[in-house]
Amino acid sequence: MSLHDRWVQERKHEHYYKLAKKLHYRSRASFKLMQIDERFNIFREGDSVVDLGASPGGWLQVAKERVGDGGRVVGVDLRYIRPLDGVVTIIGDITEDGTMRELLETVGGKADIVLSDMAPNIGGSYSTDHARSVDLCMYAVAVCDRILKKGGRMVVKVFMGDMTDSLLKELEQRFVSVKVHSPAASRDTSSEVYVICKGFLASKNVKLKDMREEEKRPEFMPKGGNI
Ligand SMILES: C[S@@+](CC[C@H](N)C(=O)[O-])C[C@H]1O[C@@H](n2cnc3c(N)ncnc32)[C@H](O)[C@@H]1O
Repeated sequence: MSLHDRWVQERKHEHYYKLAKKLHYRSRASFKLMQIDERFNIFREGDSVVDLGASPGGWLQVAKERVGDGGRVVGVDLRYIRPLDGVVTIIGDITEDGTMRELLETVGGKADIVLSDMAPNIGGSYSTDHARSVDLCMYAVAVCDRILKKGGRMVVKVFMGDMTDSLLKELEQRFVSVKVHSPAASRDTSSEVYVICKGFLASKNVKLKDMREEEKRPEFMPKGGNI
């Protein structure tokens, strides 16, 4: 990246950082979700929303604003999430059965929207970070399979790489519409994109135990269709 490009990036980063502070959002990421919603019309008043990888809570704030008092928002993260009015939070790892169970009990029915801004700890090789990101996406898909209403929507972040196409195929089997998008508030240099999925068709019969077995395989995509 040239010095000029880097400079432009830093200014953009600083712009959203200052805006988040000024408008009392907990993260710059809030603007990514707002931009996604403005373009793809994700939220409706009264919706029930599950937000995976929710800390510190920027997406939770946006979701709550957009679904209003009649809506319901549940956030999950490994890390503590400072309490937020009208939002329920669960501290836990979504790859653990116990967290999944707690989420299902807390939602207590079906959700209209599943969001996932989950990201692995960056630091491995590029391909390792990508593989971990895809793995987290597949857990978000497992949440959809268990909790998302027919016709529901999903927004999921993924770090692009050679498994992105396989992930998109999994999503296309479940949703009427699947679109890859990079909101303006994302860094241009970032490999992250968001996949916007609409019109959930049906759940696949997902068993977390089976997913764990799949993880041991060299390729993440399972044979035979089930995750
Ligand atoms: C980019 S941050 C999310 C920012 C958030 N959307 C916001 O607007 O404030 C990614 C989050 O994913 C969480 N995460 C990563 N792996 C997870 C897992 N297995 N279960 C739950 N949360 C996870 C991380 O702890 C981190 O807080």
